[in-house]
Amino acid sequence: MSRYRPELHYTAKKGWINDPNGFCFFNGTYHIFTQHNPHSTQWGQMHWGHAISKDLSVWEEQPIALYPDQWYEDDPQGGCFSGSAIVIDDILYLYYTAAANGVQRQCVATSRNGVVFTKAKENPILEPPQGITDFRDPKVFTLEDRLFMVIGSSNTTEHAVLLYEGSDPFTWTKRSVLYTVPKELGTMPECPDFFPLGEKWVLVFSPIGEETPGVIAVVGTFDLDTYAFEVESLEPIDYGSHYYAFQSTNGKDNERYAFAWAGQWPWMGRFSGYGPASEGWRGFLTFPRILTLEEGKIYSYPVEEVRQRFSHLLDYRVVKPSEDEVFEDLPPVYLLRCEFTSGFSISFGSTLLRVDPTTDEAILEHRGSMFTAPIKSGPVEIFVDHMSVEIYFGGGYSSICFNSDEPLDLTSHNGEELLELTLSGLPPHH
Ligand code: FRU
Repeated sequence: MSRYRPELHYTAKKGWINDPNGFCFFNGTYHIFTQHNPHSTQWGQMHWGHAISKDLSVWEEQPIALYPDQWYEDDPQGGCFSGSAIVIDDILYLYYTAAANGVQRQCVATSRNGVVFTKAKENPILEPPQGITDFRDPKVFTLEDRLFMVIGSSNTTEHAVLLYEGSDPFTWTKRSVLYTVPKELGTMPECPDFFPLGEKWVLVFSPIGEETPGVIAVVGTFDLDTYAFEVESLEPIDYGSHYYAFQSTNGKDNERYAFAWAGQWPWMGRFSGYGPASEGWRGFLTFPRILTLEEGKIYSYPVEEVRQRFSHLLDYRVVKPSEDEVFEDLPPVYLLRCEFTSGFSISFGSTLLRVDPTTDEAILEHRGSMFTAPIKSGPVEIFVDHMSVEIYFGGGYSSICFNSDEPLDLTSHNGEELLELTLSGLPPHH
């Protein structure tokens, strides 16, 4: 058995992956694509890997969807960069950034069967505006029968998300600078996403910056007549160290689902060169999450189909005040649910999680870094899947995602009141 490879999180069988791309529901199936280098466990000329699922929980790898084989993307430092998918008249359109010789242009590929993709003869369909050096990661959506695209852009001084409108899938006009990234948040907004949630609109992006959260969500209102986005509030989607390049889509019943890359770039302050390269693969996606908005606050929580996989009760303990509990011989995949009324802490190897309801905060110390997440009453749930650790507070009020390459033995240290711990895992013969 692999030491590192998660069982429930999506990994490519071989090679490197980073961002989730082209997440969509097409002909009764969910599709996810990834930034993929099949030739090595390091980033290299980008292809689009591909996987499908009926239920968002079990993913089946498909043949590579996009090869960097055209003049506009045939460069060892370039390739088919991130982008998105949209379905129009039973055709699946993939929009992506073709990168070669330092130029980033937008391109399209289409498919009727969802397996074989053909690049459009119109490619590239969109050249960078004058003076813009970074121009990538198109996210396309429809609204009232109109076609829109948000895209990350940067010149040396301004870093913004631009909004375009398509008169057809191949012809696009710039409508507005939807959002300019404030200096304190970082620079280039990578992988922007823009969608309605509840009564609001949400703009999500990953700013380049050493110490900023990997994914920022800006909640506000969108005016379709003026193409203006009015900002109301801003928050990270996840407070941990390995959550980047978020991408969402509408599910079959119109729920909003999102994936992210459970990774980081070496230029980010908390990068850890973790171990799975020794197994011939590297990089995985987070659990797909369902997003909801309550009183202006975004909740993100693993989809029900993933949650249900942890159906096998392994242990249940009530920990008395000021006592410790040690869990030994844990399986590599488990869920620990903690119900608490007073502060407590859990240590996993050298990682420490402290939950303090009096300050409404959880603090995680991992590899010399500290992560703080706001909490709310409600359980703390720790999902461990080999090297992946995803912790959710108050049913998705906040979360901390990180990767660990050490065995996670567990000890709980209780505070002043009873602490209830429920440990569940996968069914024995899954
Ligand atoms: C984000 C990103 C994107 C780019 C892709 C290249 O992680 O840098 O902006 O399209 O990765 O692999």
